[in-house]
Amino acid sequence: MEKIYIYKGFERFWHWTQASLILFLALTGFEVHGAFHVFGFEKAAAFHRTASWLLIGLIILAIFWHITTGEWRQYIPTTKQLKEQILYYLKGIFKGEPHPTEKTELSKLNPLQRIVYLGFKLILVPLTILSGILYMLYKTFDQNNLIVIEEYPLESIAFWHTLGAILLMVFLVVHVYMTTTGKTPTSNIKAMITGYEEFDEEHKEETVKNKNTKNQP
Ligand code: HEM
Repeated sequence: MEKIYIYKGFERFWHWTQASLILFLALTGFEVHGAFHVFGFEKAAAFHRTASWLLIGLIILAIFWHITTGEWRQYIPTTKQLKEQILYYLKGIFKGEPHPTEKTELSKLNPLQRIVYLGFKLILVPLTILSGILYMLYKTFDQNNLIVIEEYPLESIAFWHTLGAILLMVFLVVHVYMTTTGKTPTSNIKAMITGYEEFDEEHKEETVKNKNTKNQP
């Protein structure tokens, strides 16, 4: 067994901080919604606003990191082996078949993950954040006549924000299940903590070969 460095330091920091903030925002947001009582309405709303600013700051940093390191390329969608990947999750995985695609430092995401994560970053997160910002600034917009109240009533902003929050929770459940489908149930989670994932010797040689080819002019 050989260890390959897959997830860089910033990436791991960003992943776990974002996950914690989204969970905390869900906890405080659904309390504001009236689903349960933990902090009390006033505190939950105040915590929710503070955490939302932290999430916005973190996402700005992450966008900067993805652009400057070129890591955004990992999310370019592809249909190559997409069918095989879907069939693997539907059938192959239950028969103990090997993964149809291999993870490398240069290609961390399988074809299905590329599409799902791209949707998460381009649709789901923006939907929740933009509706959240509108929610937060609604009073200011209203008082300054910047928003047409008949067209954008607070209820519809709250509806889109809550829908985004529910879909984020669905994503989280599926995402956590998917993390257990690596080489061992905990190998993917360990990799996101330490940065390193264990592979067999043959896989490591292939990864080094790909890296060298890419670095050639
Ligand atoms: C930058 C991101 C976000 C911003 C700016 C934001 C902002 C807000 C605001 C202003 C409210 C109204 C309560 C208040 O006045 O404090 C609210 C409610 C809520 N938020 Fe967020 N939020 C964000 C992210 C999230 C996330 C990630 C989740 C869940 C995963 C979430 C779940 C909720 C829920 C469920 C409510 C209650 C909606 C209702 O019933 O009206 N929010 N949010």
